[in-house]
Amino acid sequence: MRVAVIGGAGFIGSHLVDSLVQESHEVLVIDNLSSGKKENINSGATFIEGDIRKDLSADLQNTDTVFHLAADPDVRFSSKTPEKTFDINVRGTFMLLESCRKADVSRFLFSSSSTVYGDAKTPTPETAPCNPISHYGASKLAGEAYLSTYCSNYGMKGTSLRYANIFGERNNHGVMYDFYNKLKSDPTKLEILGDGNQSKSYLHISDCVSANLIVLEKQEKSYDVFNVGVLEQQTVNDIAQLECQFLGLSPSITYAGAGQAWKGDVKNMLLDSSKLETLGWEAETDFKAGLKKYIMALK
Ligand SMILES: NC(=O)c1ccc[n+]([C@@H]2O[C@H](COP(=O)([O-])OP(=O)(O)OC[C@H]3O[C@@H](n4cnc5c(N)ncnc54)[C@H](O)[C@@H]3O)[C@@H](O)[C@H]2O)c1
Repeated sequence: MRVAVIGGAGFIGSHLVDSLVQESHEVLVIDNLSSGKKENINSGATFIEGDIRKDLSADLQNTDTVFHLAADPDVRFSSKTPEKTFDINVRGTFMLLESCRKADVSRFLFSSSSTVYGDAKTPTPETAPCNPISHYGASKLAGEAYLSTYCSNYGMKGTSLRYANIFGERNNHGVMYDFYNKLKSDPTKLEILGDGNQSKSYLHISDCVSANLIVLEKQEKSYDVFNVGVLEQQTVNDIAQLECQFLGLSPSITYAGAGQAWKGDVKNMLLDSSKLETLGWEAETDFKAGLKKYIMALK
């Protein structure tokens, strides 16, 4: 089967490409390399440098399945640059769906996010109301709405995968990466944004990839939504403490601001992923072991 991974030079996309190549799919990667890296791309895949905001229909001819991971993934800065978030995540997703429609792509899996829920009651099931509080979350919800419409209007089969925080090797944004870099530049102190009690769920990259693959194989409905997370939370303080332990450091810790780390930050996130589990998916990587492996790979 010919599959395309859009954003396949980035963190999650490149791991997905590795698994698809390993499963002997013919894999096309399209990425504009704005944050992704060429060296992340598996040598068994074909690479085209391209932007989702352009017509990619010629490149997508004879492609059965598209995994859409290209985005500006930065939640924190989305309130500072809302137009950029809209342009890449909303207009870009719409343009990519148009390219897929013109190329007769029959299957589309969209990497969405837990941020579509906003400050929801936890654990949050897929049926909970979506009231995003960040431009990023709003852009993901808009992408889901367009995908649902394309499935209904043009016979495409689609999935929105609402990820918890994903972590692991090649990740170059988010709290774990931020702490590592701060400690690298000054091992004697660590500034934490917010009060450190933000409590969220973190899923290892290998479990995120397996969620994509199982949904590709087992989803029945023509359009469906799945949460992708674990029923386990870590606070930002827990993460700081573990990273310091793995690096053998005892920095003085300071806190910037109280409560919310930045405008649009969801303080408490825990996804109910039992719907995904009914397809046979199960998270396998232990959080502490996964974090240690990631931090050691950054060193
Ligand atoms: N990492 C997480 O914790 C997390 C959580 C929820 C959802 N997501 C979503 O999963 C997807 C992948 O996230 P990631 O962490 O791997 O991010 P990433 O930045 O590592 O990967 C995104 C890739 O998209 C590419 N890209 C960006 N804009 C593009 C454009 N206009 N045209 C073509 N390519 C473009 C980048 O170069 C990069 O390679 C994103 O859609 C993100 O919003 C990630």
